[in-house]
Amino acid sequence: MAGEIPDLDRAGLEALQLERLRDTLRRAHEHVPHYRRAFADAGVTPDDLHTLADLARFPFTAKADLRDNYPFGMFAVPREDVSRVHASSGTTGKPTVVGYTREDLDTWAEVMARSIRAAGGRPGDLVHVAYGYGLFTGGLGAHYGAERLGCTVVPVSGGMTERQVQLIVDFRPRVIMVTPSYFLAILDEMDAQGIDPRSTSLEVGIFGAEPWTDEMRRAVERRSGLRAVDIYGLSEVMGPGVSQEAGETQDGLHVWEDHFLPEVIDPVTHEVLPDGEEGELVFTSLTKQAMPVVRYRTRDLTRLLPGTAYPAFRRMQKVTGRTDDMMIVRGVNVFPTQVEEQILAVEGLAPHYLCVLTRPGNLDELTVQVEAAEASYDAGRADLLGAELAGRVKSRIGVTARVEVLAPHALERSLGKAKRISDRR
Ligand code: DLL
Repeated sequence: MAGEIPDLDRAGLEALQLERLRDTLRRAHEHVPHYRRAFADAGVTPDDLHTLADLARFPFTAKADLRDNYPFGMFAVPREDVSRVHASSGTTGKPTVVGYTREDLDTWAEVMARSIRAAGGRPGDLVHVAYGYGLFTGGLGAHYGAERLGCTVVPVSGGMTERQVQLIVDFRPRVIMVTPSYFLAILDEMDAQGIDPRSTSLEVGIFGAEPWTDEMRRAVERRSGLRAVDIYGLSEVMGPGVSQEAGETQDGLHVWEDHFLPEVIDPVTHEVLPDGEEGELVFTSLTKQAMPVVRYRTRDLTRLLPGTAYPAFRRMQKVTGRTDDMMIVRGVNVFPTQVEEQILAVEGLAPHYLCVLTRPGNLDELTVQVEAAEASYDAGRADLLGAELAGRVKSRIGVTARVEVLAPHALERSLGKAKRISDRR
């Protein structure tokens, strides 16, 4: 059946991983000049892999390697054999291009179908896809996964929020797939139209593509009545569907380890860390044909934990942030998700926020711009709410932040990934 979660025990899974890993290393070495050079520089060949632990001897791949080989230099098959490309726009310069063969698209649809099933989706469900369609992997990734599972897909893409609400009311989807921040915008639009979000047909929300906290999960579930589960992925490794939280346990994301081999490393020493320790997540693809990736550094911070709902597959803890999103404010490391946690603890604030970094003198200053919740907004209360948040940020995170409480809807809404940091230094 489509999207069936493989019934493997840990030993069986590791044997499969080793066999597939060998294949990946050989394919990369034979067909991608970048890997041939990188392996030679590190003094290894695919024949040096005897156990899974030997992977640690192989070099990492970074986003810069993909950029240096723009656009198609990382492909391991002739361009004619690539059925589709996607790309993620970096903040600067050229986009990162990724490619998929027919077989890769098939694998991707299968792991996405698995993810939707694990989240609580079922064949026959109506699925509203509000991830962006296009070069971004979210929309098409969700789309083909839902089709594969046997769902009815509504390919809405992001934007036109009024119409999103209309389609939810009229078509009665059971599942919605969207970034958590854009789902908040949809909920706000329901409020504006006088529709109680708890009265809709939605039962399962599959939220990802950006960091979001458990506090946000609770707030969204309370407001909408659906079950909110986390989905993770990145284009360099596949797209959405690399790991998925099970709807029944909501306890972190099971990595589909028969296709993606995770490691967690110390981002400074590059040493592989034991399961349970937090560090940077690194992935090696195990079955990708068009663009195998070896030890790709995601920059995402998490830890690996034993499987629960699917015992053979390890979980990764909810991603708290990316190394690139770490703000250093007078020596204290702060992630936007930590600020989000505190915002959600203050009654009267809405989780629409932006962390603004400035350097008025020689010292960095963090300003948190945050909207007041619609119901409780009155300019007189803004100062009190701001002071409460500033107090919490100081005592729980350890940094001094200026807080600006803004009117509801003052901040720009994103249709996809939310922008949480504005660096104005
Ligand atoms: O965001 C793929 C995706 C689409 C995942 C839809 C989930 C849902 P990229 O645009 O290449 O791919 O961005 C990948 O987004 O390295 C993380 O930093 C971040 N990210 C993705 N999912 C999560 C998540 C897609 N659940 C980058 N939690 C990744 C936290 C996430 N961060």
